[in-house]
Amino acid sequence: MLSIIIVVLNLLIETSVSLTVKVPPDPIVAHVGSTVILPCWISPPENAEALEIRWYRHDQFNNPVLLYNHGKIQDTQEEPYRNRSSLTLRSDQSGGLKDGDVSLRLEKLRVQDDGSFHCYVSGEHSYDSEEVVLKITALGSAPVLSPKPLDDGRVNISCESSGWYPEPSIMWTSDEGRALRPGGTSHSRGADEMFSVHSWTAVSLSDAQLVSCSFSLRSGELKEGRLNIQGIVSSGPSDSSDSSDSSGPWKALFLTFLICALLGLFGLILYKYRDKLTGKKPATEICKEETPERLTKEVVGDINVEELRTHAVEITIDRESLHPDLTVSKDCKILRDSEGYNHTGEEFPFQLCAFGAQRFSSGRHYWEVDLAQPNIPPKNYWIIGVVKDENFTTIDRSALTPSRGFWFLRSDGPRGFYTNTDPPVKLSLTPRPERLGVLLDYDDGQLSFYNVTERKHLLTISSRFSGSVVPLFNPGAGDLSTLRILDCPKPEEPAESSQPLLSNNSSDA
Ligand SMILES: *[C@@H]1O[C@H](CO)[C@@H](O)[C@H](O)[C@H]1NC(C)=O
Ligand SMILES: *[C@@H]1O[C@H](CO)[C@@H](O)[C@H](O)[C@H]1NC(C)=O
Repeated sequence: MLSIIIVVLNLLIETSVSLTVKVPPDPIVAHVGSTVILPCWISPPENAEALEIRWYRHDQFNNPVLLYNHGKIQDTQEEPYRNRSSLTLRSDQSGGLKDGDVSLRLEKLRVQDDGSFHCYVSGEHSYDSEEVVLKITALGSAPVLSPKPLDDGRVNISCESSGWYPEPSIMWTSDEGRALRPGGTSHSRGADEMFSVHSWTAVSLSDAQLVSCSFSLRSGELKEGRLNIQGIVSSGPSDSSDSSDSSGPWKALFLTFLICALLGLFGLILYKYRDKLTGKKPATEICKEETPERLTKEVVGDINVEELRTHAVEITIDRESLHPDLTVSKDCKILRDSEGYNHTGEEFPFQLCAFGAQRFSSGRHYWEVDLAQPNIPPKNYWIIGVVKDENFTTIDRSALTPSRGFWFLRSDGPRGFYTNTDPPVKLSLTPRPERLGVLLDYDDGQLSFYNVTERKHLLTISSRFSGSVVPLFNPGAGDLSTLRILDCPKPEEPAESSQPLLSNNSSDA
């Protein structure tokens, strides 16, 4: 009788100590690439060292993320989780397995880890399991804004960013924080499951000067890029000519006709009113006289290279500060990567910098660089700009910003053309420039780039210079063509700037 009671009591005790596992009620949120702990514990605490602990996903009970059995982790992890998963403590106070803590540690998170994980614990007489939800997020790259002038005076601004998860929302705003309507937004998904987003909006200067584009996740994390369109619009017609070569003059012609028509109407009224014309020039003739002025100076907006060249200075490469993997010609004008230099990797070779021997701390200075030689395609890779005098050693990519004294335009092969401003401005320049003009207006804080062959203004970077700045060149790696600094033919009348020319008087290479 007594033994029966003991057996029944034993059974009762066995069943009353059935396992219960607990997990946090809310999802765990973690970034791609980071390490996360998925807490799971036995409650009330019980030594789990002799139990089976199985972490698995969905219905993959037999292909676990992690399996602990017979006192050790079994070598049966599903391939994508091998070497990434382990048992861990859910907090510093945790007593570990002995205390029933069976939390999972997962490293190098991927988008594919998004979703639920089952925490299954089994003893000899009972088992229990719960589900932990893991939410993966990925904060994408800094948005890159690229402007493209439209025929109607507005600018089409594109904003791109990649590496997002889940799909971010995008918002365009003006400098006063007013929302701007996106013209269109498209998403695409890469092999890594992450989202790339491209959005565009068309704005005019009256809508906004400073346009901001921001991508955000529901968690509130966001990345923002800004672009000041003032320089692009106000220097307007010359920029827009790259997309509207023909419409510029037509618009001018239309404008001229409109003025003619108005003047004509005015003349007609005058005529009708007075009923006779007394020695007054017909309105149409006035228009004809005005036309050439308007067309060349205001509307067509081709740059005047001769005018730019009045500021020409002779630039040579400073041998002293030349990167050892670069080669420069005897006359210090032609630059390229050394023959033995073997560039590996995708990244632009930012370190291959050369500096001009001339320093500028006021005035306007202009120089031209040849990026193509006869029968050889134009260079794909280059950096051209200016750098603050003392900055020759910081060639770490992250240090190449205007605030650190670098201002430049970079051609990165098929990836396009970028400024080093924050955020960078991406330009689509086709065809590739064969000859680039650079105008440094120190006092106005402007660095302008021109396509000399096509007589086009490309872009102006506005900044404030301090101390002296020197020309910056980087010929990239692997191009056939060299980077050659030209001796600009100076116009007849002497340049207004009194910059001393270098004594290096080697003849044109
Ligand atoms: C896991 O690590 C072992 C040795 O530490 C290594 O041999 C194996 O290739 C790794 N497996 C994976 C999938 O990375
Ligand atoms: C603006 O540019 C995008 C491409 O970046 C293009 O898809 C869109 O049609 C353009 N919009 C206008 C109004 O030109």
